Amino acid sequence: MNPSPPPTLRAATLADAARALAWTPEAGALRRWAGPSTRHPATPESLWEDINHSDATTFALELPEHGLAAFGQVRYREQTYGHLARLIVSPELRGRGLGRLLCLALMREAVRLHAIKAFSLYVFPDNLNAIGLYRSLGYVEVGRHPQVNCLLMEAPLSALPAE
Ligand SMILES: CC(C)(COP(=O)(O)OP(=O)(O)OC[C@H]1O[C@@H](n2cnc3c(N)ncnc32)[C@H](O)[C@@H]1OP(=O)(O)O)[C@@H](O)C(=O)NCCC(=O)NCCS
Repeated sequence: MNPSPPPTLRAATLADAARALAWTPEAGALRRWAGPSTRHPATPESLWEDINHSDATTFALELPEHGLAAFGQVRYREQTYGHLARLIVSPELRGRGLGRLLCLALMREAVRLHAIKAFSLYVFPDNLNAIGLYRSLGYVEVGRHPQVNCLLMEAPLSALPAE
């Protein structure tokens, strides 16, 4: 039997944002991954507009047999950090390693796109599944967001294994 083809990372589109939004129609669930600055009720267009900052590159992780499996961004924070943002895995595909795969793929893109010295991300302190994932990748808590109750986590460049 042939093994299933691997997931591929590609540039995300408005249609991907619409799909990811449909995974979390409820305000709290949307805020958890899209952040507190996104409007709610959200439309695909409002979400796309709210998350497309000039320093952000938005990606879709696609599984051939499933279509969009996960969504996430790389930002260039403080001209220093490859900052992972707006991460979400399709609810029906969670717990199979796709979150880890997405983070590593985004970290690889961060190194490719920007002159970074480390990786960073924000996460709500009650998002224990996500925190467990980030810790397992080498991220440690280094502080808080200045305005929002979010943890700031960082990882060294060495957290990204050589290919
Ligand atoms: C957080 C999220 C991206 C993880 O994706 P996932 O595909 O389920 O994660 P993985 O299968 O790659 O799991 C990787 C690690 O995450 C942690 N983890 C993920 N789900 C977990 C769960 N239900 N319980 C405990 N730990 C969990 C574990 O450390 C796990 O490692 P392990 O399998 O070796 O124990 C996913 O749950 C999600 O999309 N959540 C909603 C949106 C969100 O909160 N995004 C993060 C914003 S900061």
